[in-house]
Amino acid sequence: MIEWDQERYSSGVDSIDKQHRMLFEFFNDFEECIKNGKGMSYLEVSFPLLEAYAKAHFKFEEDCMNQHQCPFAKENKDAHQAFIVKVEEVKKTFASGQCGDELLMQVHDFIEKWITNHIIGVDIHLKGCVKK
Ligand SMILES: [Fe+2]
Repeated sequence: MIEWDQERYSSGVDSIDKQHRMLFEFFNDFEECIKNGKGMSYLEVSFPLLEAYAKAHFKFEEDCMNQHQCPFAKENKDAHQAFIVKVEEVKKTFASGQCGDELLMQVHDFIEKWITNHIIGVDIHLKGCVKK
């Protein structure tokens, strides 16, 4: 489970923080489903929602970084693109039927690390740009 920590994760923009919290919820829900043996149905039913939400969020955040001329705007966009590529891979693997606990744990670990590292490594740089 990943918990929101305002000090660690705040981007300086309330709406982006709210969207990040929503991504945390998607992830925590996924983890809960895996624990309850419902990870596969999560991939089928909720994963597309996570994907759609993440894409809308990425667009919002990229526009915000551009608007504030954040020097991390390009790095941010590239990282978002890499995430989307990974999501496509997961969908393909899932569609091919080659899936099981191993895939679930891979996706789980990937999302957990990606979300937290990305917010801390890239998104929070927005804070300094918004304050200027
Ligand atoms: Fe981002």
